Amino acid sequence: MEHLRLSGAYWGLTALDLMHKIGSVKPDDVVTWIMSCQDKDSGGFGGNVGHDPHLLYTLSAVQVLAILDRLDALDVEKVSDYVAGLQNEDGSFSGDIWGEVDTRFSYVAICCLSLLHRLRKINVEKAVDFIVSCKNLDGGFGCIPGGESHSGQIFCSVGALAITGSLHHIDRDLLGWWLCERQCKDGGLNGRPEKLTDVCYSWWVLTSLILIDRVHWIDKDKLSKFILNCQDLEKGGISDRPDNAVDVFHTFFGVAGLSLMEYPGLKTIDPAYALPVDVINRIFFQK
Ligand code: FPP
Ligand code: ZN
Repeated sequence: MEHLRLSGAYWGLTALDLMHKIGSVKPDDVVTWIMSCQDKDSGGFGGNVGHDPHLLYTLSAVQVLAILDRLDALDVEKVSDYVAGLQNEDGSFSGDIWGEVDTRFSYVAICCLSLLHRLRKINVEKAVDFIVSCKNLDGGFGCIPGGESHSGQIFCSVGALAITGSLHHIDRDLLGWWLCERQCKDGGLNGRPEKLTDVCYSWWVLTSLILIDRVHWIDKDKLSKFILNCQDLEKGGISDRPDNAVDVFHTFFGVAGLSLMEYPGLKTIDPAYALPVDVINRIFFQK
């Protein structure tokens, strides 16, 4: 976990918030630690104190500060300049200065800038064109043009298109068919044809189905039972599939998946921003 601790904080704290337990952490301690992961030169955040900055951890930092209602701790211009500076000529985004390109980074940049009200700092039209160029004949999306369709990449592409108001680029029936085919006999969802089911795909697949209005094409009861079956009933937490060891990543995506299916006692999570809806309402609908 050492190299991705900041994302670990996002998974753990968002799961706690969805379960109405965010009060069990001390916000000031969390904010101090988050800010100590920032690279003061570039404005981006690393996965841990003293680590190199990367878009992935910059979004996690912004998301955690949003949950704690502490976005005021940020120098918004500096952080948003870091994110916008990673856009390439063809509209794609690199994850960091070393240049790897992936639709994950397009989503991360767009989500982060939208939360900071700074989407105007990038060329949104070109960003959308790049994502659309990663669309395949099966209706799904890959990492780069010509890359195999993968549910994780589909979440990123559909999420980014939703945030930028560009969902008209999607053939909803075709993509909905590919996504609902991900439900297997055990009720769980997989990420690609012939792969094993995994709790985290409850997030990547369900969010995409919700955003294109095709979530009624899967069996929610069977999926809820699959997720609940992955709990460790003695120690708590959720694993990727029944009887495996639990971790904070799958615990978050299990709780978030249940939240998307309106499981009792959980806050509702926004499928595009991956934050509780009350946090999103505070950011976009309150003065
Ligand atoms: C599967 O990964 C998931 C993806 C490729 C999408 C990852 C998306 C992000 C990091 C964007 C930020 C996400 C949120 C929720 C804010 P995997 O490596 O498990 O794939 P595999 O199952 O094929 O090994
Ligand atoms: Zn997984």
